[in-house]
Amino acid sequence: MDYGQIIDKVYTACLPFANEGRQADYIPMLAEVDAKQFGLCLLTLDGNVYEQGNTRTRFSLQSISKVFALAMCLSQEADRLWQRMGKEPSGNAFNSLVQLEYEHGIPRNPFINAGAIVMADVLLSTLSRPEEQFLTFVRSLSGSSTVGFNRRVAQSEQSCGYLNAAIANLLKYHGNIRGDITRVLEFYFLMCSVEMSCHELAHAFLPFANHRQPFNYGGVSLTSSQVKRINAIMQTCGFYDEAGEFSYRVGLPGKSGVGGGIAAIHPLHYAVATWSPRLNIKGNSVMGMKALELLTSETEESIF
Ligand code: DON
Repeated sequence: MDYGQIIDKVYTACLPFANEGRQADYIPMLAEVDAKQFGLCLLTLDGNVYEQGNTRTRFSLQSISKVFALAMCLSQEADRLWQRMGKEPSGNAFNSLVQLEYEHGIPRNPFINAGAIVMADVLLSTLSRPEEQFLTFVRSLSGSSTVGFNRRVAQSEQSCGYLNAAIANLLKYHGNIRGDITRVLEFYFLMCSVEMSCHELAHAFLPFANHRQPFNYGGVSLTSSQVKRINAIMQTCGFYDEAGEFSYRVGLPGKSGVGGGIAAIHPLHYAVATWSPRLNIKGNSVMGMKALELLTSETEESIF
């Protein structure tokens, strides 16, 4: 497979979509990012790198960091985690409150905000130095010791995070948050604020594409079965109420974030990361979705 040629072709074919969609502005700092950027980076399991565009510029991972939080929670809690959240697609927006109300404070899955806020609570109660240990893990995965939080972005989100505060309050009311809400939200926003480039993000997802190798990064160990199950949840829940559309058009497990990033994997083949800040109505990157659709069409490879 000539991934290099395909990445070049896909990149060029996406350029006409550069002005479609709107970048997130409900987190004030994200509105300041130059919306014209677009990067695409694919890393194969055998160590080859194929990239085009802004692949070395860091951006805000936002919800993509929920995959790392899930990996840490499963390594700490194993299946006990599923007593506090489900693993079903929500069919709702990532920040929806309504389902959480009628399902009595049990989030549908770990990748909606409610699920990730519960994961923040789990990590605060099980780790002795949560921020430091989370960073050690994501640095080890990404292969870069300078990957870090952007505290200004976290602060900017916290300053107008009324909806997440409402979610946290509802969770607390139902007994699904043990710790202090303010502290849980602070850690949740910090995890969302991690920044990586497409190259670093693809690197960080490569271990998820390779469940046949031991998963042991920065103090976090997972079994092969746990890695495959994280991928299964990405497949069904990684794109909120657009998970079906992504599965239909792309056919790979993946995860998006409102910073405009998408990471996806083809198990036992490659990890790929895209970034372009303009989002569609569901909060997923327009160019990123298009790029991954074209990638799996051109390679004629998907998990199906
Ligand atoms: O909590 C939020 O709303 C953001 N920190 C993360 C949301 C997000 O990335 C949803 N992804 N598409």
